[in-house]
Amino acid sequence: MRTSRLSWFGGCALLPLALMVVMIAGCGPAEAPRPAQVETEPAEDTADEPPPGVEPEAPRADEEAAAALPVIPLGLPDLPIPEDNPMTPEKVELGRLLYFDTRVSSDGTISCATCHDPQMAWTEHRPTSEGITGPDGHPQVGGRNSPTIINAAYAPNQFWDGRAATLEEQAVGPVGNPIEMGSSMDTVILAFNEIEGYRERFQQVFGTDVTEDGFAKAIAAFERTILSGNSPYDQYKAGDEDALTDAQKRGMAAFDDYCAVCHAPPLFSNFQFHNAGVGADLPEPDPGRMDVTGEERDRGRMRVPALREIAKTHPYFHNGSVETLEEAVAFMAKGGQDNPNLSIQMRALQGRVSEEEVADLVEFLKALSGEFPVIDPPDEFPQ
Ligand code: HEC
Ligand code: HEC
Repeated sequence: MRTSRLSWFGGCALLPLALMVVMIAGCGPAEAPRPAQVETEPAEDTADEPPPGVEPEAPRADEEAAAALPVIPLGLPDLPIPEDNPMTPEKVELGRLLYFDTRVSSDGTISCATCHDPQMAWTEHRPTSEGITGPDGHPQVGGRNSPTIINAAYAPNQFWDGRAATLEEQAVGPVGNPIEMGSSMDTVILAFNEIEGYRERFQQVFGTDVTEDGFAKAIAAFERTILSGNSPYDQYKAGDEDALTDAQKRGMAAFDDYCAVCHAPPLFSNFQFHNAGVGADLPEPDPGRMDVTGEERDRGRMRVPALREIAKTHPYFHNGSVETLEEAVAFMAKGGQDNPNLSIQMRALQGRVSEEEVADLVEFLKALSGEFPVIDPPDEFPQ
């Protein structure tokens, strides 16, 4: 029902979104970037255009909402959108402004994009995040690797330990984090209400001044447009036998045998919590999920990471301890690192996966690089 509405009006109203998309990641280094689906959508829709001379009716509210939905790339399921946060083009645009605005941080240097950079597959290529400058004059370093925003819209919870339930809940976390942005939502809301451009936009989108609720909803709506699909894997699944190399096909079979139990397609995660033993040999291993539940059995458990675009989101693991995809796969394939709480499914891999299979698995994971929007920072911010 939603898709049928995405016909004529949908195509037109998608244009603003399409303009935001400046570049789409190609499938391999040698390949030219493919055109974004959002860009091609209006052209494909010409068949649905009303005949010349017929004025289109003004779009209804639900049609406007449908128009702000990103086109779901090949291979991804329907996008879950909370009922109390429907998507509109204006809300997504407000979310983009907030996402890139460094005035959210206490010293004006850090935005969401600092650690989740569109140019770096919506993550950052350092082991753990650097936030605002600390009392010693150096940027403060957090304890965990920044996950990509790509396809985060599908996860039933957020963070390595799943401590936030939704993207809305997540979005207000970094602002008050003393290491990351070092501010507080109260401070940000007060300051942003002084910025007339933001007040106007919040009025337009939410009918209120700048509020924490609106801040969270706008950023979450923006993040829901950052999807990756239409990879060689998806094209193969859709019937193109040549989309995968022989090594990738062998790797896919091995992946089904060894890895899919946790990294379940199509998102390549079942979003359960497992202990793979990453960092278990360190003096102070990350307690992971145990921090949230207080349960000893959750010690060292992390939410199974989704693996789309994995070739581009290095370094790997919750502590960013591994630089290359080869090392990450080899670590998993050997059944992780022994510790009292190691997942049974991890232990089951020990001694089973051959070196050739590891090489094929790496090739297969490269086939999960597809198309995703790379969005530019705004030219100017509300004043
Ligand atoms: C200083 C770096 C930094 C900044 C700034 C930052 N993040 Fe993050 N982000 C991280 C790290 C590190 C994690 C993982 C933390 C954890 O799991 O405990 C994370 C986790 C997330 C997640 C969860 C993804 C997942 O798969 O679980 C989302 C979504 C997210 N951030 C969005 C945002 C938004 C929106 C902003 C701006 C309001 C923001 N981040 C600002 C570093 C940062
Ligand atoms: C028992 C569930 C489970 C199985 C089976 C499993 N993984 Fe994982 N995988 C995880 C968890 C949990 C993590 C995160 C570990 C951490 O950072 O502490 C992870 C992390 C990864 C990462 C790094 C992701 C990132 O964003 O940093 C890769 C790559 C990976 N796994 C590939 C594989 C491959 C290939 C296989 C099969 C050989 C496999 N995994 C089998 C649970 C599993």
